[in-house]
Amino acid sequence: MNTNNKLSRHCVLVTGGTGYIGSHTVVALMAAGYEPIIIDNLSNSKASVLKRIKQITGKQPIFYKIDLWDIAALDKVFQKYSIASVMHFAGFKAVGESVTEPLKYYENNIQSTISLCNVMTMRDVKKIIFSSSASVYGETTVIPIKENSLTAPASPYACTKQMIEQILKDIHVADPAWRIALLRYFNPAGAHESGLMGEDPQGIPNNLMPYVSQVAVGRHKKVNIFGNDYPTSDGTGVRDYIHIMDLAEGHVAALKKIDTATFKTPQIINLGTGSGYTVMEILHAFEKASGKVIPYRITKRRPGDIAACYADTKLAQKLLGWKARRNLADMCADAWRWQSQNPTGYP
Ligand code: WQD
Repeated sequence: MNTNNKLSRHCVLVTGGTGYIGSHTVVALMAAGYEPIIIDNLSNSKASVLKRIKQITGKQPIFYKIDLWDIAALDKVFQKYSIASVMHFAGFKAVGESVTEPLKYYENNIQSTISLCNVMTMRDVKKIIFSSSASVYGETTVIPIKENSLTAPASPYACTKQMIEQILKDIHVADPAWRIALLRYFNPAGAHESGLMGEDPQGIPNNLMPYVSQVAVGRHKKVNIFGNDYPTSDGTGVRDYIHIMDLAEGHVAALKKIDTATFKTPQIINLGTGSGYTVMEILHAFEKASGKVIPYRITKRRPGDIAACYADTKLAQKLLGWKARRNLADMCADAWRWQSQNPTGYP
């Protein structure tokens, strides 16, 4: 028995691990034989997800309700477990809210990352995977989007993602022993195939897929489609929707590269499918998966929205040997199974 009660297995600290992307990644980590240690302040998620993870994996992951700003509490976790690497998901993520409350986003997202990196440095943990976002690209003209595309973050939320990428790159310049992956997600969607876990946004969903799903289950009357006058096949916005479990598996693939110290310099990698779907295509795909008619109305464009955005996925395949393998029908079927079995989300 380890004298300091340190687990001998490869512990991965997962910040924000009770959230949508974090929790699904925890399931993929456990399936790959890792020992996730979740820390989350439950500001935008519920601890009941832990029981669902146990139902799926047979084991409830270790969890601490901690604010990343609480350096003393965070350090205690690093002292207790042999943490080999960190996956950093924790952060506020509502684009619209970031525009009306920028200071809340800069203070939370940036300060919490600095606290985390300070404790990692103190405890000589120098492997991190950061949850970045395709929103750093902003209004780009060239699609599919490559990792070396110009960035033009169009919201304080997106700016925090770009700033944290820069902070991590600068940490590596100061100490090249760090191994860093910066994963830029496109549009995560869907749910774990069991129907036990899924997307459970607090309040009215900002994103399309959870909103459509909640209309299908009767929580809202209709979908508001933000503009149908974009230069796309049917006039509605095009996005690269990636199944949440593909995204989770992409993180495990990145961790394996970080583990083997393959990435000598910070690697920016898009996690998307390389395909784009319009809002109308999403709506029809969800009707097919749920067997429900989904009413909608066309409203004016949402400020800050772009016409089309989807990933160039070649670098992820080259560096990670990973490619998304689930399609839109899988995303809608899995999302509907979760929503219909959990009409009001997690208990
Ligand atoms: C998708 C499409 C909307 C809602 C955002 C963040 C990004 C990432 C994913 C965190 C667009 C349309 C939407 C609705 C609609 N999050 N839409 N009615 O804006 O591409 O990306 O979420 O990393 O950072 O920017 O996703 O789902 O909000 O919008 O018509 O009620 O659906 O106009 O075309 P988005 P989204």
